[in-house]
This record gives sequence, structure tokens and C-alpha cells, in this order.
Amino acid sequence: MSDEAGAAALDRLARYRFEYETAGLDTLDVHHDPMVQWQRWFQDASDAGCVEPNAFVLGTVDAAGWPQSRYLLLRGADQRGFTFFTNYTSAKSQQLEATGRASMLFSWLQLHRQVRVTVSAERVPDDESDEYFASRPRGSQIGAWASPQSQAIPDRTWLEDRVQQMAATFGEAPVPRPAFWGGWLLRPHEFEFWQGRPSRLHDRLRYSSVPADVEAAWHLERLSP
Ligand SMILES: Cc1cc2nc3c(=O)[nH]c(=O)nc-3n(C[C@H](O)[C@H](O)[C@H](O)COP(=O)(O)O)c2cc1C
Repeated sequence: MSDEAGAAALDRLARYRFEYETAGLDTLDVHHDPMVQWQRWFQDASDAGCVEPNAFVLGTVDAAGWPQSRYLLLRGADQRGFTFFTNYTSAKSQQLEATGRASMLFSWLQLHRQVRVTVSAERVPDDESDEYFASRPRGSQIGAWASPQSQAIPDRTWLEDRVQQMAATFGEAPVPRPAFWGGWLLRPHEFEFWQGRPSRLHDRLRYSSVPADVEAAWHLERLSP
């Protein structure tokens, strides 16, 4: 099943134990708006030097009901929700179109923190996708045209040839955004902030949206670890 080095690493898996000594998380300390609280933690993760602090795992469900997860890079966070960019014909985009729902997971393990968010999904307006696409390096712009994301392709050479063809097509001209590429806006439905604490007595705070209640738009409660 596995080679010798792999087997040794697997053997260590069950014995990894880290005590989490970081400060706790209390309902009295967090911001009443979970988006503001998320921004505070994102700032902490950036300040702490976490690798790619804007990386998150997007969870979707495919047509057969299989859960699918993949990392993405967050490109925006504001009062509407979270934004990332991708190919609209990709597997994830088809799953977002079909269900309109997804999960996000931010892992800032250096700080012993994770944030889970359940979201509804919609495409961002075209002008936002245009603006972001124009800001990308030219190589990434050409790559977006060349790659039929999530489809099976014959080999690496096939992809490299496509890149060459696209580069020749555009020459020195600006590369426009392909209609099949753009952003998704993920509107939060529920947040859970998790802070590791000693003896596995972790802190978990959940914000649930209360759409009918304008006074308190989010209901905050503590969950058992
Ligand atoms: C750290 C990291 C960041 C990524 N960021 C993106 C991204 O912003 N957009 C994207 O389309 N794919 C990104 N990918 C690739 C995706 O994980 C995935 O392979 C790709 O989007 C195809 O997924 P799908 O077939 O489920 O649609 C990233 C991968 C990693 C490891």
C-alpha cells in the first residue's frame, strides 16, 4: 500500500498532539457583525504570517450527491459577502449553478483557528469580473483562455500548445475577459468561529442569520467543542 517513508509518517499520525495555549473567544468579545469579526481574524492571520491567508476550501455537492472540496483564493470580502474568480464551465461553477449553495473553510492553523461559513452563491456583475480580469498578469489572462478547466485533456503538451495558440491570437493586444470566466459572490448564511484551547475544550461561536429580524440580523451562540 505505501512505501517505507510513507508508512513511518502514517505511523506518527495518531500521536501528533499539540496543546493550544492561545487566548480564548467569548461572546462578549466578538463583534456583533460576523463579517467584521472575520475581517479581524483575517488581519490577525496576515499579521501572523500565515501562508496564503486568503486561501479557503470551497465545498460543493455534485449532481450525484458527492461532496467536492478544493482550495481557492479569496479576492474580496465586504458587506455583501466573499468573492473569488474561476472558470464558469468548471465543475465547481456547475455545482454552484445547480445548487446555489456552498461551504467555505478558512484554516489559520498557526493561530489554531478555523472559520466555517455556509453561503448562497451568485455570479458577480460582469463589470466586476472585467475589472479583476484586467488586473491579472498577462500570463494568467492567456491561461484562462487556454484552459478548459475541469475537463480531461490528452497531455501537458496539448495545454502548452493551446497557450501558444492563444498568445499568438492576441499578439500585443490587450486580452479581454472570456465570457466563460468570472467571479462568484458567496453570501453568508451561517458562520462558525473556532479557537483551539487546552485539553480540547475549544471555543466555538456560531452566528446564524435571522432574516426577519432587522434589529438583530445575526443570532450568536456558543457550541460545545
Ligand atoms: C492555494 C490554491 C488556490 C487556488 N485558487 C484558485 C482560484 O482562485 N480559482 C480557481 O479557479 N482555482 C484555484 N485553485 C485550483 C482549484 O483548487 C481547483 O483545482 C480548480 O479550480 C478546479 O476545481 P473544480 O474542478 O472543482 O472546478 C487553487 C488551488 C490552490 C491549491
